[in-house]
Amino acid sequence: MPAPSSFDIKRIIRPNILKLEPYRCARDDYNEGILLDANENSYGPAHQASITQDLNGASSISVQIDGQQLHRYPDPMGRRVKQRVLQLRPSVPSMDNVFLGVGSDEIIDLLVRITCQPGRDAILVTPPTYGMYKVVAAINDVGVVKVPLVVEGERTFQLDVDAVIERATSDDAIKLVWLCSPGNPTGTHLDEADVRRLLESGYRGLVVIDEAYVDFVRPERGESFAKLVAEYPNVFVMQTMSKSFGLAGIRMGIGLGSAELVQFLNNAKAPYSLSTLALDVAHDALSDQGIGNMRQVAASLCAQRDEFLIPQLRALPHVGEIVGSNDANFVMCRFVDGSGRASNEIAKRLYTEMAENRGLVVRYRGGDHGCEGCLRITVGTPDENRAVIDTMRALLNAEP
Ligand SMILES: Cc1ncc(COP(=O)(O)O)c(C=O)c1O
Repeated sequence: MPAPSSFDIKRIIRPNILKLEPYRCARDDYNEGILLDANENSYGPAHQASITQDLNGASSISVQIDGQQLHRYPDPMGRRVKQRVLQLRPSVPSMDNVFLGVGSDEIIDLLVRITCQPGRDAILVTPPTYGMYKVVAAINDVGVVKVPLVVEGERTFQLDVDAVIERATSDDAIKLVWLCSPGNPTGTHLDEADVRRLLESGYRGLVVIDEAYVDFVRPERGESFAKLVAEYPNVFVMQTMSKSFGLAGIRMGIGLGSAELVQFLNNAKAPYSLSTLALDVAHDALSDQGIGNMRQVAASLCAQRDEFLIPQLRALPHVGEIVGSNDANFVMCRFVDGSGRASNEIAKRLYTEMAENRGLVVRYRGGDHGCEGCLRITVGTPDENRAVIDTMRALLNAEP
């Protein structure tokens, strides 16, 4: 691995985390045999117990324990799931490079907590971007440096890479640079050359690439940055099962990075954060068949996006442009007034009327940098997409 000589992981991990002696939980040691080590309920899940009373009123309890062993704590490391993550991202060297979190949102928080000293350090974000990075920074009393994306011309929603490198390399307090690719709300896959330039720039912190929507990227636009994990120690790639796998309810985030960094994350996480139910579903979803299904579903959503939603939106009155490069399962649409100017008023009116009176909820993004007049519309089922277009058409026809 060509370690940029400027990167030393010990410099970005907080001193208290470097020194941390992690909690060793019972299931770290043994998970087979007669397990009387973790104060679980040996009878099994109580709600499934059948309780019988004998003639003297004494009760006896029997429980049919199903395959899921829900009375046992889960595997703290989720090893079965990590093994399958390697099938999804074969360029990732080993299970030691995989971290599992309670959704990506937990991983975002953990990364800030293990690297940034409250009241002293900072993160760098590139607006418009996912809102949780700065919320987590605020919760942890960590500064936020903003270097906006390019918002005009051919490179719309790409990194202003010179400015990012300039800021990141000139301020030692910036421990993390957050990139989002494809971006939320931009829907735009970042140029690989820019990401590599940043990784090789001499910046001494960690570059995090949030790829929540990566499975919706058209192959000709690029591929997952997960391959960079085998090349650079200063990159961390985040994915999630909430989007392409359709499993937002199980809360399963995937982090890919150097084994050293993954170890620090493991040391800091709650021991049994991932439930048995979530791990079981994730394990199924990451089987060969599960991954195949995910790819088909993602392709179908992309077809709805490209062949129905985008052309239909373009044909509506007051639609100025579809912004960004549409590499995700949503579309950003800019609404304009009669003279062609981006109109937050029209976007907001449409958004509110649809949500409050038509039972159709999209996201208003007009307040974000470079997103004036924009609504973000998630690609739905064919029926849902038709409903959104019909409703918008009726409402926009009534606009002056
Ligand atoms: C860019 C981005 N990252 C992370 C998340 C959160 O993912 P998870 O459901 O895994 O917490 C979202 C959710 O909308 C997102 O848009």
